[in-house]
Amino acid sequence: MLPPALRVALERELTGTDQQRLAAAASGLSERYREGHSRTTAPFVQNAADVLAYAATRMPATLGAIKAACAEIAQRQPSFQPSTQLDLGAGTGAGTWAASQTWPSLHQHQLIERENTMLQLGQRLMQAGPTSLQQAAWQQANLPNTNNLGSYDLVTIGYVLGELNATQRQQLLTQAWQATSGVLLIVEPGTPRGFELILAARAFLLEQQAHLIAPCPHQQTCPLQANDWCHFATRIERTRFHRSLKGAELGYEDEKSSYVAVSRQASQRAQARVIRHPLHQPQRIQLQLCTPQGLISPTINKRDAQWKQARKAEWGDSFELNLSQD
Ligand SMILES: C[S@@+](CC[C@H](N)C(=O)[O-])C[C@H]1O[C@@H](n2cnc3c(N)ncnc32)[C@H](O)[C@@H]1O
Repeated sequence: MLPPALRVALERELTGTDQQRLAAAASGLSERYREGHSRTTAPFVQNAADVLAYAATRMPATLGAIKAACAEIAQRQPSFQPSTQLDLGAGTGAGTWAASQTWPSLHQHQLIERENTMLQLGQRLMQAGPTSLQQAAWQQANLPNTNNLGSYDLVTIGYVLGELNATQRQQLLTQAWQATSGVLLIVEPGTPRGFELILAARAFLLEQQAHLIAPCPHQQTCPLQANDWCHFATRIERTRFHRSLKGAELGYEDEKSSYVAVSRQASQRAQARVIRHPLHQPQRIQLQLCTPQGLISPTINKRDAQWKQARKAEWGDSFELNLSQD
């Protein structure tokens, strides 16, 4: 759910705007998003209506997906209490809101964004947030930046890699890792293309001796086959504006995303990750798990020690395999 203060600020921005124009912009964004905008040369967000449509229809989803990944990092590394964050390709600030909600310890945020219209709306929205967001530093710049980015406890790159060419991506990853003193989180759409970018980033970061935090329960080669992709779903509540702009009836949507989180410090990784919706049958549950030994599909019966855990397990959760039999 959107932070209430952000929701109010967003509604204030949208009130009185030309709904038809916004709806057309929202549908243009969806189309470019589905097509994989990296294949087009036009910028993803092209004008003021696009920026508002992005904030109304995409920002709640990107914020939700980034926040879900942050929650997983917090669970795996409870001692990680970042003070400083760098948000690259910040857009209207979703990654910064997500991190600030997860870690109240954050008090300094630096955001870098190329499009001035995105940056300005993001800045206005943050005035409704806590003091650290009101004081966030925004920089308009084209990444990868030739300047040294500095050093931050947390670096986030949300839904940006797909907008860069291969050279820019490589340079951005190099710079982002150099700027990371604690944790680097990268999130992309949960599509085959998004996962391909995550997988390439994962390989590069492991070469740099990064330690994987999540979602992978191991640092080996990803066991998923070429026609499959690792992604998760986050349920996003749709606001009134969101519903009317999309002409949607459902009060929610499921945002699919792929992510990788790495750290300078080794952390306790999950023993396994649930990579599909568990299949519930009478008296048994079938799970699809990624483990250090590869992909497995155990069936957990009611009398098994893992039954309780399996009943609660959801797609994307970690799963502990070695429970004591009691
Ligand atoms: C899909 S939006 C994601 C925004 C935000 N991170 C989020 O998760 O909602 C991608 C953002 O990356 C920005 N971007 C793309 N290429 C960039 C570049 N070379 N330098 C800086 N920002 C860039 C775009 O302007 C856009 O705001």
